[in-house]
Amino acid sequence: MSHDDFPTDRPAVVTCGLPYANGDLHIGHLRTYVGGDVYSRALDRLGQETAFVSGSDMHGTPVAVNAEQEGVSPEEFALDWHERYAETFPKFNVDFDNYGHTHDETNTEITQQLVRDLDEGGHLYEKEIMVAYDPVDDQYLPDRYVEGTCPYCGAHARGDECDEGCQRHLEPGEVEDPESTISGNPAEYRERTHQFFAVSEFADYLSKFLDRLEGTSNARNQPREWIEQGLQDWCITRDMDWGIDLPGENPQDLVLYVWVDAPIEYISSTKQYSERVGADEFDWEAAWKEGASDEHPEGGEIVHVIGRDIIQHHTIFWPAMLEATDHAEPRAVMASGFVTLGGKGFSTSRDRAVWADEYLDEGFHPDPLRYYLATNGGFQQDVDFSWEKFAERVNTELVGTVGNFLYRSLLFAHRNYEGGPDADAPSDDVAARIDEAVEEFAAAVDDYSVRALGDAVTDLARYGNEYIQRNEPWKLVDEEPAEAERVIYDCVAIAKAIAVLFEPLAPEKSERLWDQLGEPGSVHDATVDAAGEGPAGDLSEPTELFEQVEDERVEDLNEKLEARVAESEADETDDDDEEGSSANDADTTDDTDMTDIEPLSDDRISFDDFQELDIRVGRIEDAVGIDGADDLLKLTVDLGAETRTIVAGLKGLHDVDDLPDTKVIVLANMEKAELFGVESNGMVLAAGEDADLLTTYEDAAPGTKVK
Ligand code: MSP
Ligand code: ZN
Repeated sequence: MSHDDFPTDRPAVVTCGLPYANGDLHIGHLRTYVGGDVYSRALDRLGQETAFVSGSDMHGTPVAVNAEQEGVSPEEFALDWHERYAETFPKFNVDFDNYGHTHDETNTEITQQLVRDLDEGGHLYEKEIMVAYDPVDDQYLPDRYVEGTCPYCGAHARGDECDEGCQRHLEPGEVEDPESTISGNPAEYRERTHQFFAVSEFADYLSKFLDRLEGTSNARNQPREWIEQGLQDWCITRDMDWGIDLPGENPQDLVLYVWVDAPIEYISSTKQYSERVGADEFDWEAAWKEGASDEHPEGGEIVHVIGRDIIQHHTIFWPAMLEATDHAEPRAVMASGFVTLGGKGFSTSRDRAVWADEYLDEGFHPDPLRYYLATNGGFQQDVDFSWEKFAERVNTELVGTVGNFLYRSLLFAHRNYEGGPDADAPSDDVAARIDEAVEEFAAAVDDYSVRALGDAVTDLARYGNEYIQRNEPWKLVDEEPAEAERVIYDCVAIAKAIAVLFEPLAPEKSERLWDQLGEPGSVHDATVDAAGEGPAGDLSEPTELFEQVEDERVEDLNEKLEARVAESEADETDDDDEEGSSANDADTTDDTDMTDIEPLSDDRISFDDFQELDIRVGRIEDAVGIDGADDLLKLTVDLGAETRTIVAGLKGLHDVDDLPDTKVIVLANMEKAELFGVESNGMVLAAGEDADLLTTYEDAAPGTKVK
């Protein structure tokens, strides 16, 4: 089955990975929530019936351990955080249709039913396993109550995941040299009877499922490896009090593993939404249950938005649970890269993070952060946060391109035309360009690219700037007033299209633009059809939509952040909680040697861009100094097809006599340049300050293309 393009006539559910209710949200978390919110708003714009849901993840050892350390009950502790999250998301314009939590009645009921269904379907079995146990404290030590060594890669690992090494999910009993995280006591392993879900039976199904799965390529490809390596069955119970009780006979008083009831909250939260708005408005069963709807018995369009650390849970365990219980299968998983700081994962306990509240407390508007998080690099790329990069994107794209176009057009329109310029419709070229932007927008949705959603808008604004610049309505206004009015009407039409298409990324700013345009109703209800309809409103006096982030501001913020990072580095310990450490390439752990290395660029170029570089193997035939130039040599380089003169800054760094016959790599289509009266026709590539010359490993001949 291949999927139809959006919009389809099936109900869609966009979900976001549930935050553990155990600490402040940082902007890394926000990448999931902003990503999901942008995507669900974009589906809305296309006219797709969509529910956008999430909730707090209340159970599990991350919550229980922290509550214990604070001396409060896990329930009280988690509910407190849950309430804070429910308040924080709207502040970032993350507008869930329902935000529940995993400990509520709906989720408890649906979870227990689903586990009973797994059991009745013959997918569960009992097994004796060794469980970590603290003999001094007389306590079992599930998951994060225990840490030790990863049996696969040898890294220091939590009881349930190899968070600092290979990122594998670890089953109870797997971690070696276990120790209690609470008491520090060495743990022993004791035999207990637990429930297992036979995930391994689903290997074939999951392989085929992955062929159908859409979303980001990391989520579609990584799980294949896990399947090839052989799937392990999954222990779904834990020796704990905090959690949802294993239904049915439960002599050992086990609770379900947090990763059982957490994704089920996606279903429960959708149900709560249906109960609130009525099934006519959104039918949760039609979306989630196979066969619940006659028109689309396979269920709805389920799109999961998560961070890359929880791909395995969403592409192996969860779809197997859904398949085993006749639920709809996910259509797509969008797994974002991590947001890091100085190349390292955020760390909650060490305060190495940019906090969500902190961003707002600095007086910033939420929409620029949304834009930055959604469009900085591809969604699956890790992004190293810096205030400079944030400021640069805000200043060049939001202020310089989008804001500038809107302000100059709308101000001109407002000053010169009472109520706004008049015309029947945008001119053909402009109408076609707006249609193109709408198509780009729709294609971005089908590509699961929140970045491309942003590009559709900035590209349109860039076109708008060129259009107004080229047509110069301010010059036409006296001599050709009709023409001037047509041009400015076109610009207002572009502004209206921007309002509609920018709604997902910048919801509040788009609504303000909508008001300035005097359009009726709310932009949140407008679909892409409105983008091409031409302006209808009474323009009011425009104000600048986005604010420049000043250099001094960036410096201040940087200083604060650097001080904090330095402090966290100083008290770095083994038992730290740095996230997603695979963002830390092996080589960045060697801090001393890496400090001088420029960070790798976040700005990717396309393969097409790369192909524009004509890079060739060359052979130096001759090298001589240039009169008056201290650093330069004039090289004669054989490029196969021709011999070129190239000026290079090699003098003093290489022995001139050694250079002839050396093979070099040359950017052949570099712009020509004249240096000290010598025309340089190409550029010789070299690494670093010492101009270490790039050469070939074997014997590629001069003229060979480098690709
Ligand atoms: N509770 C689980 C998810 C259960 S989903 C059924 C969890 N919680 S979390 O609080 O650790 O993370 C919440 C979301 O934020 C997840 O999607 C996670 O991948 C994402 N991120 C957490 N830190 C992140 C970064 N530093 N960068 C990008 N995404 C990050 O996992
Ligand atoms: Zn490992």
